[in-house]
Amino acid sequence: MKNKNLIAVLPGDGIGPEVMKEALKVLNFVNNHYHLNIETKVSEVGGQAIDLYGEALPDKTLELCQKSKAILFGSVGGSKWDKLPPEKRPERASLLFLRKHFNLFANLRPCKVLKDLSPLKEERIQNGVDLMCVRELTGGLYFGEKGKKFNKHGEKGAFDTLNYFEKEVQRIATLAFKLARKRKKKVTSIDKANVLTSMVLWRETVKKVSKNFEDVSLEHIYVDNMSMQLMLNPSPYDVLLCPNSFGDILSDQCAGLSGSLGLLPSASLGENNFGLYEPAGGIAPDLVGKNKANPLAQIHSLSLLLRYSFENDKAASLIEKAIDKVLEKGIRTRDLFTSKTQTLVGTKEMGDEVVKEMEKLC
Ligand code: IPM
Ligand code: MN
Repeated sequence: MKNKNLIAVLPGDGIGPEVMKEALKVLNFVNNHYHLNIETKVSEVGGQAIDLYGEALPDKTLELCQKSKAILFGSVGGSKWDKLPPEKRPERASLLFLRKHFNLFANLRPCKVLKDLSPLKEERIQNGVDLMCVRELTGGLYFGEKGKKFNKHGEKGAFDTLNYFEKEVQRIATLAFKLARKRKKKVTSIDKANVLTSMVLWRETVKKVSKNFEDVSLEHIYVDNMSMQLMLNPSPYDVLLCPNSFGDILSDQCAGLSGSLGLLPSASLGENNFGLYEPAGGIAPDLVGKNKANPLAQIHSLSLLLRYSFENDKAASLIEKAIDKVLEKGIRTRDLFTSKTQTLVGTKEMGDEVVKEMEKLC
C-alpha cells in the first residue's frame, strides 16, 4: 500500500548525507509552514548498503521506495567499490536499477544561468539562459545489450549497444513538447543521425510527435554541434530533448554553464506522479566530511519533488525563490566563490541561509 505522504530518503555515499541534511532542514520548514504532513524515512543505498548488507539496494530500501510517494536521493559510488563487477557497483545496482524498476523514463534537469556565476563572458549570456534538459532515462546506451567478447585472434573486447524503440522515443518526445508548451515553445532534439541508425529512428519519431504540437517549434541538431553551441550561444535554446547518454553529457555541460555541478537538480519521472529526485552531480570525494559541498542542487531537487510528486507549486516556488535570493546576495559555497566581495559559507551555513530567506519570504 502506498503512503501518499511518505518520502523515501536515501542519502547514499560521498557528500550525499551532508547535502541531504540541508535539504531535510528545508523540508522541515515547508512541512511546518504549509502543514503538509509529509513523513520521511531514511534507508541505506549504494556503497554504504553494500558494506552493511552486501548489496547496493537491500530489500528493505526497495520496499520503502515502493510504499513511498517519492524518493529523495543523494549520490552513490566511490573508489572503495570500483573493483566490484560492473553490475554490482553502486551506480548500476542501485540508481540505474531504481530508474528502470520504477520506469522513470524522463529525467528533467532545469538550468538557469545567473550572469555572475557563469564562466562564460557576459556578452554571450546577456539575453539570459534558461534551459530544460529532458533526458530519456531508461533506454539507449545505458540499458542496451552489453558484454565481453573475444575476436578470432583471442583478443579481449567489450561492447554496449544503443537501441531505441519508437514507443520509447514517442513518450519522452511527447513529454518534452508538453513542457515546451509551458515555456518558450521550442524543442531542440539532439541526435547523431548522420552516423547512428538508432538516431535516425529517434529523429523520424520526434518529427512525427511534433505534428501533434504545431504551436511548438522543433529543430534537430547533432550532439557534437549542440555541445559547441552551448558554449558559444546558449540563449536561443529552451527544451533540449536528449537520448540517455547524450543527456548525461550535455546536462553536465549545462551545469558547467551555470557555474557548478553543485547547482544542477534533477527529477526522474514515470507515467504517474511518482519520481526520484537527485542532484545531477556525484559523490565529490574530495569534499566529503569537510562542510564544503554545495547543498543547493539537493535542496532544488527537493523543490522539484514537491512540484511534480506532491503537486505543490507554492512550496516549490518558495524554495526556489529562496535559493535565488541567497545567490543574488553573493552567498557562495567554495565551488562558486570567485571574488572577495562574496560571502564564503560551508554546506551547513548554506542550508541555514536558504531557510532564513524562506522565513523572510513568507
Ligand atoms: C547522472 C549520473 C549517473 C548517470 C551515474 C551516477 C550513474 O552521472 O545522473 O547523470 O550516468 O546517469
Ligand atoms: Mn551524469
